[in-house]
Amino acid sequence: MIKVLIIGSGGRCDAICKKIKESEQVDLIYCAPGNAGMARHGINIPIKVDEVDKLLDFAKENQIDLTIVGPEVSLSLGIVNKFKAANLAIFGPTKEAAQIETSKSFAKELMKKYAIPTAAYEVFTNYDEALAYIKTKNLPIVLKYDGLAAGKGVIIAKTYEEAEKNLYEMLVNKEFGEAKVVIEDFLVGEEFSYMCFVNGTKVYKMIPARDYKRIYDNDTGLNTGGMGAFTNLPFLTNDDISYAYDNIMCKTAAALVKEGIPFTGVLYGGLIKTSDGIKVIEFNARFGDPETEVVLHALTSDLYLAIKAILNDEEPILTFDPRPVLGVVLTSIGYPSSYQKGYVLDIPNFSDGYVYHMGTKIKDGRVITDGGRVLMVVARGYTLEEARINAYNMIEEIDTKHLYYRKDIGLKFI
Ligand code: AMP
Ligand code: GLY
Repeated sequence: MIKVLIIGSGGRCDAICKKIKESEQVDLIYCAPGNAGMARHGINIPIKVDEVDKLLDFAKENQIDLTIVGPEVSLSLGIVNKFKAANLAIFGPTKEAAQIETSKSFAKELMKKYAIPTAAYEVFTNYDEALAYIKTKNLPIVLKYDGLAAGKGVIIAKTYEEAEKNLYEMLVNKEFGEAKVVIEDFLVGEEFSYMCFVNGTKVYKMIPARDYKRIYDNDTGLNTGGMGAFTNLPFLTNDDISYAYDNIMCKTAAALVKEGIPFTGVLYGGLIKTSDGIKVIEFNARFGDPETEVVLHALTSDLYLAIKAILNDEEPILTFDPRPVLGVVLTSIGYPSSYQKGYVLDIPNFSDGYVYHMGTKIKDGRVITDGGRVLMVVARGYTLEEARINAYNMIEEIDTKHLYYRKDIGLKFI
């Protein structure tokens, strides 16, 4: 009896859960804490993603064969270190390797040391020195708080006043705690997310995807966790992808091995295609959300077997459907600022396409909204345009009275 534990509750984990459920090897899935969508495939257990010791006890007591970690919070708390020490199979990087995501300055210093292409930068803890540096730079300028700041740690300042105000908040008021800021040049180009499975120096490709970070159409409004995504990016050539694979993903994996902190898990490159080549904007140490919902939707091979192979130091089989996949995120109205939860959702069953759950739960036998990002409607097409039409047609069939979504996912690229 093969039992898998999936840690997390967002759309990314629903996508992982669905793919793991498709594996003929797996008998039972537990989700901690899961959501209403994950309950379609597994059993939700009420343990939070930061309750690492409770998760460890659960895995031991229930003889879990494989644990897959969704969010960075669990990684940053050393969940992988603890499971490994207890001889339990877990897929994700150690706390040390996860610094590639949890510390912007660690990531930047690693890239500088190993000549991995990224924006020029300096790191500051002193407000006056940071301010003096900014005065020597062009605008806009990018300020990155050094640590996890729930997606709020990046400021693209268009004026010196804006930069000064934010630096003051980060370095003098210490808004997010320990105060260290990376200041880097603003890069111009098309952004894309490139996730690869990594095992030490071995790097296995997934397909690139595009994320939409801002709340409103045409990339305006506040930053969010992601408002939509699609695959088969028309602005990337095969050469671009090979370059990113060789010079960014493989080089970074090798750099972490040389530093004595080998990475196992999904390495996520947040990359940008500039006129001066492809560069790194950020790394994450896990599956991205909402990219995972479109990338795993295209995966045709067995995800459980792939992860097991990687953990056994073997070559995984990874195959992808060549057709484009596009997904649109439906949010609570008001997100990413304040919003109401608890609205009943009525989601039809679609014969084609799939509705991934992000922030949902079950109450009195009904599915209700339970977060800022609520659902992601994902469809395929023979062309990107067709995938887009299919996704938006699905949304037409959902009651969106209490939901908001962008109307322009994929539009610019058709
Ligand atoms: P991050 O949290 O590092 O992914 O930053 C959030 C978003 O800010 C990125 O997805 C980019 O859109 C933008 N951004 C971050 N750094 C830069 C940069 N150096 N140049 C241009 N845009 C950036
Ligand atoms: N889509 C961005 C992230 O997962 O952080």
